[in-house]
Formats: sequence, C-alpha cells, structure tokens
Amino acid sequence: MTTQEVLNTFQKYVIQNYTRYPIVLTRGEGSSVWDADGRRYLDFFPGWGCNLLGHCPKPVVEAVQKQVVELIHVPNTWYTEQQGQWAKMLSERSFGGMAFFCNSGTEANEAAIKLVRMHTPPERYKIITFQSGFHGRTMGSVTATAQPKYHDGIQPLLPGFTYVPYNDLQAVKTAIDNETAGIMLEPVQGEGGIRIPSVEFLQGVRKVCDENNLLLVFDEVQSGCGRTGNWFAYQHFGVTPDIMTLSKCICGGIAGAAMLAKREIAPSLRAGMHAATFGGNPIAAAAGIATIKMIEQEKLLDRAKQLAVLFRTRFNKLAEELEIIQDVRVLGMMIGIDLSIDGAPFVKACMERGLLINCTHGHVIRLLPAMTMSDDEANEGIDILCDVLKNNPE
Ligand SMILES: Cc1ncc(COP(=O)(O)O)c(C=O)c1O
Repeated sequence: MTTQEVLNTFQKYVIQNYTRYPIVLTRGEGSSVWDADGRRYLDFFPGWGCNLLGHCPKPVVEAVQKQVVELIHVPNTWYTEQQGQWAKMLSERSFGGMAFFCNSGTEANEAAIKLVRMHTPPERYKIITFQSGFHGRTMGSVTATAQPKYHDGIQPLLPGFTYVPYNDLQAVKTAIDNETAGIMLEPVQGEGGIRIPSVEFLQGVRKVCDENNLLLVFDEVQSGCGRTGNWFAYQHFGVTPDIMTLSKCICGGIAGAAMLAKREIAPSLRAGMHAATFGGNPIAAAAGIATIKMIEQEKLLDRAKQLAVLFRTRFNKLAEELEIIQDVRVLGMMIGIDLSIDGAPFVKACMERGLLINCTHGHVIRLLPAMTMSDDEANEGIDILCDVLKNNPE
C-alpha cells in the first residue's frame, strides 16, 4: 500500500480521535524508524515513552519469540511461572510490595483508585490529585486528571476527587478533610510539562499522609522502570509510596501494566473484586522480565544518567543564547524544554528534518529518548533541535 492508500483507509475506517502526522511507519530499530517511502527518522519520543529500550530491543524480541510458541495467553484462573517471576522482580526493585497486572496505564490507575477506596473505611473515599497531572482516559483516571480540557463533554465525572496545585504542600494540607482517603500524583509530571517537584514537597506529602492515615499513590506510568536513571522516580526523592502504578516501557514496547501495593495494603484487593483478562499474560510477562534483565545486564540506568548530562549540558548552553527558552528540565530520559511560545511549529520543523519529538502543554518540548542511544545519535538529534529552535519556523 502507498502512504496515501493507508491514509485513505484510516480516513474511512478508523475513528479520528488522534491527531496524526501523514507518515506511515513500517520498521524500527534502536532510535531510528523508517516510513513507507524508506525515509529514516531519528526518534527522540519513541513509542510515546513506551520504547525506553529503543525500537525492537533484541532481548525483548527474543523473549517474546520464545514465549509466543509456548503459551500466548491463559486467564488468571491459572498460575504461570512468568507472571510470578515478573512480580518478584518488580517488587525487589521497588518497595517489596505485591503486584496486580493489567494492560495500560489508565487501567493500573483504576486499580489504584479502587484499592484506595477498598482499603479505607467507606466514609473516606476522596482522593487529592494535582493540577496539570495526567492519569489516563477511563472515567476514574480521567477524573483524577485535573485538567478541564479532558473533561469536556463527558460529565458527570466520578465523585470524590479534589484538585490542588502541584508542588504546593500547603494546598495539600488545606484540601484534606474527614473524607479524604488518599493522595495520588506523578513524582515527575510528564504530560504536564516534565515538572520535577522539590524534595521537600514530596517528603512533605509523605509526612502528611502518615499523619492523616492517607494512602500515597505514585503514578509512575511515564517515569517508572528506569526512565529517570533510577528504577523508579520516587527513589530520587527519598520517599516511598504505598501504591505505585506502572506501564509504558515496562515490557520493552509490548503492552503491559502493573499496580504495586505494599504488603499490608495489597490484600484489600480481595478475590473477585478486580480483574483484567489479559493482565500479566505470558507474552507481557516474558517481555517484562527481559526488559528488567536487559536494563541490568547493559547497565542502562547508568547510561540514562550519562545521557541526561549530555542533553542537559547542551540544552542549558542553548538556553543561554535563546530568550524563548524559559527553563530546561532533565531527569534521566525525561527532558523538557519550556518555551515562552507555542511549541507545535518546532515539532513539525523537526519532523521535516527527520527528527521526531513531542510538545506537551502547548509550550514544552518533551523528549523521552531511548536509554540505549549512542552519543552520536543524541548529538545528531540535539543538533537538529538546536538549529530548529534558533531558526524559529513561525
Ligand atoms: C503518568 C501517566 N499516567 C497514565 C497514563 C495513561 O496511560 P495509558 O495511555 O497506557 O492508559 C499516562 C499516559 O501518557 C501517563 O503519562
């Protein structure tokens, strides 16, 4: 099929709920993807954060190939070695909790919302969430997402959410009442513009939870599983959540998600009260295990930290030259360049020059690069982006 034929098929048969660029991707390897006409793009936003190991990482491909001929899917009425092993590996690298598996970030957050309500007395059901946060698109998660633009036309929302400004501890304290059950936040806001909170804020939220007997939920769907150069972003702040949600890159690009809960809380998700048919299936579990092993065997957490220095140094230098850059925020492979103007034209200009990036919140250039990229690849893309930012396409 030609590019135009694929576009025509979409136009006729696929619901138009995404804004898509007129490019048909056919192949990916590492930090490169190729379109149907054979053009290569350097991908600084691979898989919308799912491809932290790059496109088609070999150990994950091999693990899936091996698994797919043995057992593709069995329901959670049976045990599989892979699911148990995957849970153990995630638990040992985080806070020693127990896992519930599902398939997407929003599903993991729905599980967390239910667990918060189930673990606390019925009169306490409210969850405090944060402005500019993002937790997904199903009704619970989208209600937790304190951004009115995502609520337009779908009200009434789920009752019981209170929104407060991010990084504002006093606002959190003020929002707590007798009905509050928990606090849910991203330890680094992704969609909200790569916003990194202060250590005092996150530690303060933990203290407030302890003092008021509230559950603390960290949504690490975007920041988790090595993205920030630690296994989980919360590990940068010396704060441990009670519940954590993961998805995006945890299976090296295969769909998969998990909610981890502390041992004393996990049993509140009683048998029969929650489920996901495909959750923790053998393919996702095999990919999840291979992802963790690859990160460790190839020392990729250290590599993410090294690459972060490269990106930070170059963008800070650019910020000295360009007035349109308000701030540069980097934590591992979460990179935000906060502009004083609309970022969309820069995304388009980079794409025309063979570099894929993202803009979030209207004015923050967001990069979620693969931790496997070489310095040459990083510099190649940074050169293009710097050039595009210097020659404002508008
Ligand atoms: C922090 C965070 N939570 C939840 C989600 C929703 O994940 P999914 O699209 O897999 O449902 C996202 C997606 O971007 C996210 O960044």
